[in-house]
Amino acid sequence: MKTYDKLIFELSKPGRKGYSLPENEYKTDGLSSIPKDLLRKEVADLPEVSELDVVRHFTNLSSKNFGVDTGFYPLGSCTMKYNPKINEELSALPSFTNLHPLQSEKTVQGALELYWNLQEMLSNIAGLAEFTLNPYAGAHGELTGLMVMRQYHISRGDEKRKKVIVPNSAHGTNPASAMVAGLEVVEVKSKPNGSIDVEDLKPLLDDSVAGIMMTNPNTLGMFETEIMEIANLVHNAGGLLYYDGANLNPLLGKVRPGDMGFDIMHINLHKTFSTPHGGGGPGSGPVGVAKHLVDFLPNPRVVKNEDGSFSIKSEDQSLGNISSFLGNFGVMMKAYAYILSLGKENIKNVGPLATLNANYIKESLKDDYLLPIEGVCKHEFVFDGLKDKSTGVTTLNVAKRLLDYGFHAPTIYFPLLFHESMMIEPTETESKETLDEFIDVMHTVAKEARENPEVVKSAPLTTIVRKLDETSAAKNPILSYRSLKANAK
Ligand SMILES: Cc1ncc(COP(=O)(O)O)c(C=O)c1O
Repeated sequence: MKTYDKLIFELSKPGRKGYSLPENEYKTDGLSSIPKDLLRKEVADLPEVSELDVVRHFTNLSSKNFGVDTGFYPLGSCTMKYNPKINEELSALPSFTNLHPLQSEKTVQGALELYWNLQEMLSNIAGLAEFTLNPYAGAHGELTGLMVMRQYHISRGDEKRKKVIVPNSAHGTNPASAMVAGLEVVEVKSKPNGSIDVEDLKPLLDDSVAGIMMTNPNTLGMFETEIMEIANLVHNAGGLLYYDGANLNPLLGKVRPGDMGFDIMHINLHKTFSTPHGGGGPGSGPVGVAKHLVDFLPNPRVVKNEDGSFSIKSEDQSLGNISSFLGNFGVMMKAYAYILSLGKENIKNVGPLATLNANYIKESLKDDYLLPIEGVCKHEFVFDGLKDKSTGVTTLNVAKRLLDYGFHAPTIYFPLLFHESMMIEPTETESKETLDEFIDVMHTVAKEARENPEVVKSAPLTTIVRKLDETSAAKNPILSYRSLKANAK
């Protein structure tokens, strides 16, 4: 096996160098202006490697990573769709990348126009009055949206409204964001089909309710058909509806959260609008609000003036700043390119295709995998592990075995409603051939589980790193070059 086929991190050889520094042109020791007590006492303990060692090490490491460009990535709730390369090309245009956030407004009119246009597009898609693009991620959007909710109640002298109702199937960031925003989380139960139990919701709706956080389709991929009734109940109790837009993909261009009664929402640009994520790139979590909440959006904002020019403004009633400057501009450019390249007509095909793909996989596999909720799902669905539990093969085992066959694992053990959750989201960009290959492999793994369970239990067998000792990894993480060296001693 060649050095780079193994996961070897210790390549250092004393005296080896990967750089040559120019001579100090001022002929000083170069250190005289640094205060003595800040000078390093010992030579830095850095790897001594040649440039070629470094290039090979990182290039080989990068090829060991799994990405949506290398294979099928059905990670439920994450919407790992293909990220078209034109998005990258446009976001790398030097006329945008060379801008500085402190440049004067009149020298960045193009960038502001793009920001404003994207705000408008998202408002149209969502059926809401206005968007801010400032938050950096979905969870950051949740926090921002909940701060808007809080600010709204405070502005009305309704300080005691602090209760946020969250379904027990919700993504973990929902209750976490509510806590960070200084609100109190109250759980509402889900019915066996995964949708909110309206009868359980009713008694929770009193004058301390700030709002409810939901996603539709819900975390099990099922559309909340009682959404209009829920919206009426919450509004009548004086609360607001927050929409976790991480699951917007199946509704894109077809159904608008604003029309379902939602007052506030965030969108994960890095999911629905095809920008790399999951370690592959920064995110963006724009927040949209209905008309009565616009004043509370964070500062700064981009506005269009009467003469057609654009300005950056701050409003007094705003909840304040939640990010430096205007957010992750590169991500916005990619999302903008994606929306423009799909156009108004094609964007409406995203949801139905994602939905078709998810239902095709679900129906093709339900003879081998336990489907706890029957019926048409939206863009994703959940199996409760293998149907045949007698073999002792778990969801974790199946997930690891998929790696041997070149597929990324689905999301596992989420949602928490089932013991062996396996959440599969194929996205609209996958072909029928890819779906068929995945279905075949899932059947093969189920057959192996019946006939030779030990193979599945000991997977992965072909990956560069075998099954990890996750407990030790969590308890004794080796996160830096230095701790790796210390551990080796
Ligand atoms: C349903 C749901 N809500 C919220 C989030 C949080 O988004 P982010 O990871 O961008 O913070 C996710 C992310 O996976 C999600 O799936």
